[in-house]
Amino acid sequence: MTKRVGFATRLGAIAAAVGSAVGLGNIWRFPYEAGVNGGGAFILVYICCILLMGIPVILSEFIIGRSTHSNMKAALRRLSPGKKYYLFTYVCIIGSFVVIGFYSVVCGWIIEYLYQAAMGNLDGHTSQEYCIMFNSLVASPWRCVGWTLLFLVLNFLVMSRGIEKGIERVASIMMPLLFLILIIFCVKSLSLPGAKKALYFLFYPDFSKLSMRGVLDALGQAFLSLSIGISCLVTYSSYFKDDASLTKDAATVGLLDTMVAILSGVMIFPAVFTFGVEPTAGPRLIFEVLPGIFQQMTGGYFWALLFFLLVFFASLTSTISLSEIPITFMIEEHKMSRPRAITWTALFTVILAVLAALSFNVLDDIKLWGKNIFDMMDYAASNIFMLLGGLFTAVYVGWIMDRKIIHEQLTNKGLLKSRMEPYLIFCLRYIAPVSIVFIFLYLTGII
Ligand code: PHE
Repeated sequence: MTKRVGFATRLGAIAAAVGSAVGLGNIWRFPYEAGVNGGGAFILVYICCILLMGIPVILSEFIIGRSTHSNMKAALRRLSPGKKYYLFTYVCIIGSFVVIGFYSVVCGWIIEYLYQAAMGNLDGHTSQEYCIMFNSLVASPWRCVGWTLLFLVLNFLVMSRGIEKGIERVASIMMPLLFLILIIFCVKSLSLPGAKKALYFLFYPDFSKLSMRGVLDALGQAFLSLSIGISCLVTYSSYFKDDASLTKDAATVGLLDTMVAILSGVMIFPAVFTFGVEPTAGPRLIFEVLPGIFQQMTGGYFWALLFFLLVFFASLTSTISLSEIPITFMIEEHKMSRPRAITWTALFTVILAVLAALSFNVLDDIKLWGKNIFDMMDYAASNIFMLLGGLFTAVYVGWIMDRKIIHEQLTNKGLLKSRMEPYLIFCLRYIAPVSIVFIFLYLTGII
């Protein structure tokens, strides 16, 4: 059994949690989901989901993690002795593998673009050529699998260096830098001729464009983006120190994550409308649009390089937190050594990631409900696993967990004030479960 370490500093702990939350979910997935679902109305619903469900569930995961300083299974066993709630941990572990499976393929694409940017190949093309470039990447099994595996090797190398040295250091430097560069790109993008149309698209809520499936997508996107529902933040907060204010930290993570998502939208859409790309292009959206923005900038070569480097680090801090879920679990519950737990996690991840990477080429005729393996994993991750996990967490903390422990965690045993407690409990007891169950029932045709 390894000794439990904590994050060295409070800022480091927040940076790591923000590092987990901010990733491809914000920069790659949010803009395309907003594009597919019509823009403004989707974003408004998304923000409501963050405030009414996302932040309360983050806080709940923090409460479970820090009150027990252990992984989800041990935590639930300790909080509810003699009960079987801890079995839900297995759903979380499977969920974390599904997320990292498709996610690392996109990380692979990011490395290919980083490579192309370094070689100067992103410059001087028409938007149609950028389209062809992306198509040729996903059509090549070797390139897709190769880059994905390279990414996973890097990921597991960082993992082997442990929590404090690996995760905390990477996150504390890269996150602020990413924020800064996003703002610079937004300013540039807003000077493009398509800016006015883009802002209208992003911020004018036209509810006629939003379907009930779009509402589910917004909720799933919010949970994926905040890294909630698969016990990731339980695992991280189990390393938090006892003097951190959980409420403040949860709000900080939620708000920063949302800001990065919206900034990514503001960065992408002016270019979408300027270069005539379809906003509904889906997962390929940013890969076809971004090179066009870099081209418009003086020193575009360096901006492209810097951008893909930062997105690469943002994704790495997310996959690190994802793989930490099964690793901590195996170490603590199955008494494995860290290297052994890393090896098993890497093995399962590689199998899923290779399947996802091949689903655009060799395995592209394997489809279920019109979705290839990659799309199925993407959909199942956010719209099933994370929502179920969010539902479980909300109901567990709202209805089942001992209120005294919740109060203790929110106030740090009486040292802090906790004005948000009634609001939190109300969201967890009523708003989150009712909304999630309602959307599920509606979409499965039961109501
Ligand atoms: N939140 C991450 C992102 O937006 C993805 C993630 C999900 C990370 C679940 C950890 C756990 O990119």
